[in-house]
Amino acid sequence: MERVLKEEQRRGGEELSGRWTVGGGVADVYGEDRATEDQLVTPWTVSVASGYNLLRDPRHNKGLAFTEKERDVHYLRGLLPPTILSQHLQEKKFMHSLRQYNLPLHKYMSMMELEERNERLFYKLLIDNVEELLPIVYTPTVGEACQKYGSIFRHSQGLYISLNEKGKILEVLKNWPERTIQVIVVTDGERILGLGDLGCQGMGIPVGKLALYTALGGVRPSACLPITIDVGTNNEHLLNDEFYIGLKQKRATGKEYYDFLHEFMSAVKQNYGEKVLVQFEDFANHNAFELLSKYRTTHLVFNDDIQGTASVVLAGLIASLKLLGGTLADHKFLFFGAGEAGTGIAELIALEMSKQANVSVDETRKKIWLVDSKGLIVNSRKESLQHFKKPWAHEHEPVSNLLDAVKAIKPTSLIGTSGVGKTFTKEVVEAMASFNEKPLIMALSNPTSQSECSAEEAYTWTKGRAIFASGSPFDPVEFNGKTFVPGQANNSYIFPGLGFGLVISGAIRVHNDMLLTA
Ligand code: NAI
Repeated sequence: MERVLKEEQRRGGEELSGRWTVGGGVADVYGEDRATEDQLVTPWTVSVASGYNLLRDPRHNKGLAFTEKERDVHYLRGLLPPTILSQHLQEKKFMHSLRQYNLPLHKYMSMMELEERNERLFYKLLIDNVEELLPIVYTPTVGEACQKYGSIFRHSQGLYISLNEKGKILEVLKNWPERTIQVIVVTDGERILGLGDLGCQGMGIPVGKLALYTALGGVRPSACLPITIDVGTNNEHLLNDEFYIGLKQKRATGKEYYDFLHEFMSAVKQNYGEKVLVQFEDFANHNAFELLSKYRTTHLVFNDDIQGTASVVLAGLIASLKLLGGTLADHKFLFFGAGEAGTGIAELIALEMSKQANVSVDETRKKIWLVDSKGLIVNSRKESLQHFKKPWAHEHEPVSNLLDAVKAIKPTSLIGTSGVGKTFTKEVVEAMASFNEKPLIMALSNPTSQSECSAEEAYTWTKGRAIFASGSPFDPVEFNGKTFVPGQANNSYIFPGLGFGLVISGAIRVHNDMLLTA
């Protein structure tokens, strides 16, 4: 290899040195001067990761951690200052400088810049400092990063597949430098966290999720592929933003949308085979359920918002039974928000209860109530409900708001999946505390700004009796001389392990039993 490289370099040098021009410049070896708009000249490089190129290859670059021997072998002499800084010291230095930033977004940008420069160090940092860095590369900061993606965009991360590539998606996949892909996280950017339609700028989400696949799940970074499908955006602000990086058109819908997604799913299977895992992320619910039911029987897919969230919340509920007592079936659940997360969690709770008690899912669903933007989901609304809400329409008189629903249903657990912040008001939380010794309150909406209430509010308004978890992290709270440590109920506690399990087991479909086991 070394010999080949040296020979290559020698020949390249000779070729170039024979072409010096009189004026001191170099001749047009690459043909660039002759290129016209009609006759393109293909750019080329010798791509062996060595010397200067090695320092610019994030996958192999170690920066100052290259040893003396490596500096000799990889032609790095003179390209680095003489000191050798172990990865451990590099990590210490980077964390020190990261902590100097006051704004989380600057920390995010610094982390992304590190990933583009020195991937090994990036993952080492993330693995060793996961509690500190998770809120940076993931919720809540990633939400802000997506909102500002256009202006902070420097390097392209992941693969962008826009409507311009219709009919050519397979070719686009082949442009990605890695051949062996095990996990794809894909979004179309229509429901980014609780922040709405961020179009092409949703790319921050698959990038962040896949960083966790490596840091928490142990999947090789090169086997992870973040993808954003750009079918336009209905976000007027982005459509009018001169720095917006996506297609400036309204979203494709209906047949055009589904045909495009079908081309994508077919191309993925054709290019990477049956065992590539596709994780749907942050699609709007009018497409999410349909895509999941369409492809779960033909591809290795799961929807993290519907299924991953359900797994982690069910795990949280089972864990909280140690404090609450009883079985799941002894509890009554009220959801605020009846979309992907809400109905997904509700369905998995019902399934687990039916397995535990050996009764039908139809029966166990009766323990679970949901409120959406029009109030409590009840039988009289059934005709006008979206299909995924229909199983939750129970017999009850109409109730138009959350507070009245809490008072009417008297749930033991209140779970927020609305994407609307500050909706678990003092009255709502106090109502929960009035008929529960230990009210269970989960404010799952992300990012922090959309959380239904804060940890401090939950503990204060229940006088320290709440059992609380949230989607985005909250710091511990001091109340009446006691420290309360809130839990985090986020699908990041499930998807890296679930995905890794699917990959190493060679599964080709995702079944509900796997989610229950997770
Ligand atoms: P979605 O759009 O599918 O569902 C939102 C639901 O909230 C809909 O039923 C809608 O009718 C309802 N809603 C909206 N405004 C409302 C209002 N003012 N009053 C009552 N109901 C209202 O969204 P999805 O995917 O279910 O996500 C919702 C939230 O949950 C987001 O903030 C998301 O970030 C969060 N989430 C958290 C996860 C976690 O791991 N903690 C995972 C997935 C989602």
